[in-house]
Order: sequence, then C-alpha cells, then structure tokens
Amino acid sequence: MVASLPGDPGIGAGLASYLGLEILPVFSRRFPDGEIYLRFPHVVEGGEILLVQSMYPAQCDRLVEVLLALEALGRYGSRVHLLVTYLAYARQDREFLSGEAASLRSIVRAVTAFGLETLITVDAHNPRAVREAMSGGRYLNLVPGEVFAEAISRKYGGRGVSVVAPDRGAADRARELAKHLGGDYVVVNKVRDRVTGRVEHDLSPLDSVRDLAVVVDDIVSTGGTVASIASYLTGRGVEVVLAVSHALLVG
Ligand code: R5P
Repeated sequence: MVASLPGDPGIGAGLASYLGLEILPVFSRRFPDGEIYLRFPHVVEGGEILLVQSMYPAQCDRLVEVLLALEALGRYGSRVHLLVTYLAYARQDREFLSGEAASLRSIVRAVTAFGLETLITVDAHNPRAVREAMSGGRYLNLVPGEVFAEAISRKYGGRGVSVVAPDRGAADRARELAKHLGGDYVVVNKVRDRVTGRVEHDLSPLDSVRDLAVVVDDIVSTGGTVASIASYLTGRGVEVVLAVSHALLVG
C-alpha cells in the first residue's frame, strides 16, 4: 500500500495508480499549540508500505510527520519503504567549522533508527553521506540524468551541448547527464566562505562552452548560483538551459 504524508505533492497517488497499489489513508491535524497529530485509520498488522513525503516546505514539520508515521507503522509490524522526494537539511552534510552540527547525519539517523526496509531519495545532495549516516536498511538514490537528457534532446537535439556543474559537488551529476547527451561537461569552481556564507565563483572553465549550456544542479534555492553562471554564459552568446531536481525558488 502507498501512504502519502502531508508534504507529498501527489507523487504517492501517482505511484499507487501507476503500480496498481492501494492507498493507505493518513489523517493528520494540529493540536491547538501547533503540534502534529497523525493517524492511519485503516492500518493492518504486518503490511508492506511505501511511505511518501517531501520535506519542503516547512522542513521541521515534515520531518516530525515522518517520525510519527514510522513509529505508528512500526508498532503494527509494517515493512516500510520511505520515499523522501526532497530530503531537507541535506546540504550541511558534514562539519565544515569545528562544533557545527552535521545536519544531514541527524536527520538520516533519526529516520532510519525505526528499522526501515528501504530509504529512497531523489537526487540527494550527497548520496554517499546519506548512506554513511544510515542506521540500517537499503538505500536507493534516484538520479534524473536519463529523464533530463530525453527532455533536452527532444527540444534541442542536434545542438552542440556542454553540461555545466556549478560546483565540484555537482560533477557526478554533470558527468552522468553529459554521458546521456553525448556531450562534454565542465565544472565551475565555487568557494563558500564558511563564516559569512558568501559564495564566489571562478567562471573561467565556462570559456570553452560554445552553443548550448545545460546547467545541472540538485537544488535551486535563491537562484544565486545558477544566475551568475547563466548571466556569464548568455553574455558570451551561449543559450542556457537549467536542469534541476528540486526547485525551491526561495523568495
Ligand atoms: C549547493 O551546493 C547546492 O547543490 C546548490 O547549488 C545550492 O543549494 C543552490 O543554492 P542557491 O540557488 O541559493 O544559489
């Protein structure tokens, strides 16, 4: 059965219909102080559940919903596969400054402590760090390279394409997409001041890009990263396409 938590924008229902699976209803409301109440009114002993949630927006509430659901399903002996379409707190994936919380580890440890069968993410920021932080269970990270490549080829087939990774963390993503598109890829060097958060880019690797650039990233948050790359490229007469998995579009 498929159970959609309140942050799921409809992917659970789509999967249930595509896979011919039943929906397990979820009831949720707020207590007067804002705390979350959650119930599976028709849960049965020993079921196998695909639980679907996106942790954006309202990351903290969305995380609590996952924890509440896992506790309840666990008491009924359910085997749970958790699909988190957007994994919050994923970018702070290690300690950059001493004493910092490595947020990703806390989130992944908390969620997998309930004995998940499978954790599934969609284009997680750092899948290796997710896997390392897991307390158990299988891990699948779904990568969109092939899907992006099909859409881009349909619209821009025949053009000389270069894939652009906005930072070294996106290099694997760019390599994979370039392989599907049959083009090359370049990696921009992004340096973040860990105290002020200020970001600087060395855009010189972009000088080799000629006709069409596909900038690929996991997340667009404020858009600052892709905007500086796009304006540099368009200023040089290159057409720019953005391929992004999680368009937060903050502000
Ligand atoms: C960071 O490493 C991520 O992969 C994205 O590049 C980043 O979150 C984008 O943020 P923004 O859109 O605010 O520049």
